[in-house]
Amino acid sequence: MSGSAAVEVFDDGAVRGFTIAAVVWGVVGMLVGVIIAAQLAWPELLGGIPWLSYGRLRPLHTNAVIFAFGGCTLFASSYYVVQRTSQVTLFAPWLAKFTFWGWQAVIVAAAVSLPLGFTQGKEYAELEWPIDLLIAVVWVSYAIVFFGTIATRRVRHIYVANWFFGAFILTVALLHIVNSAALPVGAMKSYSVYAGVQDAMVQWWYGHNAVGFFLTAGFLGMMYYFIPKQAGRPVYSYRLSIVHFWALIFTYMWAGPHHLHYTALPDWAQSVGMVFSLVLLAPSWGGMINGVMTLSGAWHKLRDDPILRFLIVSLSFYGMSTFEGPMMSIKTVNALSHYTDWTVGHVHSGALGWVGLISMGTLYWLVPRMFGRTTMYSIPAISLHFWIATIGIVLYIAAMWIAGVMQGLMWRAVNPDGTLVFSFVESVKATWPFYVTRFVGGALYLTGMLVMAWNVWKTAMSGRPEVVRVPLPQTATA
Ligand code: HEM
Ligand code: HEM
Repeated sequence: MSGSAAVEVFDDGAVRGFTIAAVVWGVVGMLVGVIIAAQLAWPELLGGIPWLSYGRLRPLHTNAVIFAFGGCTLFASSYYVVQRTSQVTLFAPWLAKFTFWGWQAVIVAAAVSLPLGFTQGKEYAELEWPIDLLIAVVWVSYAIVFFGTIATRRVRHIYVANWFFGAFILTVALLHIVNSAALPVGAMKSYSVYAGVQDAMVQWWYGHNAVGFFLTAGFLGMMYYFIPKQAGRPVYSYRLSIVHFWALIFTYMWAGPHHLHYTALPDWAQSVGMVFSLVLLAPSWGGMINGVMTLSGAWHKLRDDPILRFLIVSLSFYGMSTFEGPMMSIKTVNALSHYTDWTVGHVHSGALGWVGLISMGTLYWLVPRMFGRTTMYSIPAISLHFWIATIGIVLYIAAMWIAGVMQGLMWRAVNPDGTLVFSFVESVKATWPFYVTRFVGGALYLTGMLVMAWNVWKTAMSGRPEVVRVPLPQTATA
């Protein structure tokens, strides 16, 4: 919908919906995370009710935080950014609304079917085939809206954030369609078309690139837009951002086999996965440095801008987890870390620290603008959220690192006669205090999210959705 010749009207209906949904699903997904953390410390907690059992709630947690919380933030930010950087209104806004309701339907279907026990048994791709079909339809619509907006842009240049969002959208479509190929044998039952080690390889090609594209590329798109905006500085090096983009997307594709070390996968394939994972350190850190250095000359803003703090601290966790990941992909290191809570610590330094904090920073940017206000209702509450979340993350990941290394060492300790020094249950007992610490850390992180939900509610109630009119650009700008 265009305004007069002098103004363009952005269509933010879907952005607003996804922004609010992200906060709601964030609370739900993290609450389920805290519940399963409690179940690991106190296994009898919820009695023997099957749909509340750990095995069913765990995929509910991962799906809710990754696809509902992360997914809604990605939809919201990409629709917002692509309009501003292309200086044009969203292509087919009705289709964007369809993606909103379609994605919410996927989330609700997941929230019902996973506790009922319907699963394809593939991690991060558990949902059964009818839901997979709906995901494919929504995702293709998303691609049409996003690339349609790019195609009708009023500036020649395609800003780097859109390259990352675009790569994320295309790759997730490819990953989802290839990995979900299955033969249905009932309304909610299917079998993968792949078998044996090929099935495992396809699954972890999917799984690792879900990390690389769902949990990383799109969030890097946010980094390239919201950090310069919030800091009031241009991107440190635009040239580096282009190198960053091509190096990252090329390298991620080959690293999947590091999830299958010491399995039936051919040894050479495992080594290829390891080498590409090590190479991945370079583009990951190149991107992180580009984001952090954008603050050059504006470091003092970190002191009193809690939104900028969310955005920048997320990058330090990104740097940490993308250093740790390559180390864990080295086969001899993986021999210790695999199957232990070290992996869970690595996951959550990426998930809580990188994905969580950058999402929160982005949402704090978006929410007031979606409700016609200049700032959030309460700035001190943003600061409070930042500190509770950061303490929560540190407790969570430190507990898991210690527990993981301890478990790895206990499992491999042998007596001179070759028998095990520790039984498995002894390692479980030794892990207990760390599970309690993780529960406390997770509960703090959730508390921060509740503070955010309150602040968002107050902001939304005291503002009003506004129509954003901006002058048409004279020159190409970001
Ligand atoms: C250079 C970047 C990275 C590399 C090379 C890497 C490497 C690894 C390795 C070696 C594992 C352990 C595999 C195993 O023993 O089973 C792992 C697990 C995992 N990583 Fe990373 N990682 C990277 C960055 C990240 C980031 C930024 C995130 C989150 C945002 C993340 C999320 C995960 C997840 C979810 C798993 C667990 C997969 C599972 O078994 O379910 N990784 N990663
Ligand atoms: C309140 C915050 C959270 C808590 C308490 C929490 C807790 C947990 C627990 C207990 C597990 C199971 C670990 C195991 O199997 O041993 C888990 C798994 C997982 N969580 Fe969270 N979580 C939280 C937030 C998040 C967020 C925000 C994300 C992503 C953005 C996330 C992504 C994951 C993933 C990918 C796994 C699977 C890890 C693997 O297979 O190795 N979590 N979480």
